[in-house]
Amino acid sequence: MSTKPCILVTGGTGYIGSHTVVELMNQGYEVIIVDNLSNSNVEVLDGIERIAGRRPVFENIDCLDYPSLDRVFCEYPQIAGVIHFAASKAVGESVEQPLMYYRNNLGSLVNILDIMQVHQVRNIVFSSSCTVYGQPDKQHLPVDETAPIQKALSPYGNTKQINEDILHDCAHACKQLQVTILRYFNPIGAHPSAQIGELPNGIPNNLLPFVTQTAARLRDKLRIFGDDYPTEDGTCIRDYIYVVDLAKAHVKAIERMLQVPEREQVEIFNLGTGRGLSVMEIVRTFMQVTGVRVPYEIVGRREGDIEQVWADPKRANTVLGWKADTPIADVLMSAWNWEKKLRGIN
Ligand code: UD1
Repeated sequence: MSTKPCILVTGGTGYIGSHTVVELMNQGYEVIIVDNLSNSNVEVLDGIERIAGRRPVFENIDCLDYPSLDRVFCEYPQIAGVIHFAASKAVGESVEQPLMYYRNNLGSLVNILDIMQVHQVRNIVFSSSCTVYGQPDKQHLPVDETAPIQKALSPYGNTKQINEDILHDCAHACKQLQVTILRYFNPIGAHPSAQIGELPNGIPNNLLPFVTQTAARLRDKLRIFGDDYPTEDGTCIRDYIYVVDLAKAHVKAIERMLQVPEREQVEIFNLGTGRGLSVMEIVRTFMQVTGVRVPYEIVGRREGDIEQVWADPKRANTVLGWKADTPIADVLMSAWNWEKKLRGIN
């Protein structure tokens, strides 16, 4: 395969980042990863290499370190675009340490945009989140990109909103800058090879890692936060999207930025399946497809939880020509295969 342009991926050893690096490399892109390994592991590079057959360039750099980041752009003048994943992402931690979140998540993007301008790199894809929509009104479900942005419930969520504003302001000031904002719903699962996947730090906050760790007997039981929501089975509803499908959307976004000059200067896409699943549906389906029991108990609601949200992904389907269509059974199985590999379970 001929080599395509070079893409700098910040946070490229992280969960979504590593899956995206694999998809970029599978499509022939040259990839440079910038990551400070604050929430990931250098061995992820081995997993990427085993899948893609090549090793991406890796620079152990914190995006807050302007001179080091600048050096990467000097060393690789062929960089055609940036996908910016690097960020702190634990909601609870952000409530306890807001300044760390504002410093990391805002400072990193500011540095990247500044250095991109210096080196005349025009294209950036930014990892945003459906958290910007908060709990949408019933008439806005499923949520499309025109749904109103609501006041963030955590410093983490606020950094996503402010970063979107920063991107809009920079695009306004510099007409050469091309921006794609991707708002993810709930990424889950692992690469089908089980060579890369999610590596939660400590006790998982998110549902799926908690489910797989309970299935692997690392945790006694899953606590389901509330069954008294006004949903069919009383548990919350989310749009769970396969991380590999999500990764492929990034390749589509880059392709569009590099190949479609008539695109809008700032484009925003919701990345979800278009289907909402309840916590209970996830747990039951997981047990069905894996044949492994997940002990659970219903406990009180989690503070700040959103009752139900799922995406209208039509814009991404039509404009990017992308669809998240991996069956949930396969997605859950991939998550379990990854957990088994991590724990040495047969
Ligand atoms: C959370 C973050 C969101 C972030 C997203 C990343 C909050 C309030 N929001 O979203 O900002 O972008 O992760 O994927 O933390 N659940 C249980 N038991 C558990 C864990 C989760 O019942 O042990 C339930 C939750 O109540 C929720 C659903 O599972 O209904 C999904 O939870 P989670 O994976 O944490 O994702 P979000 O809350 O959607």
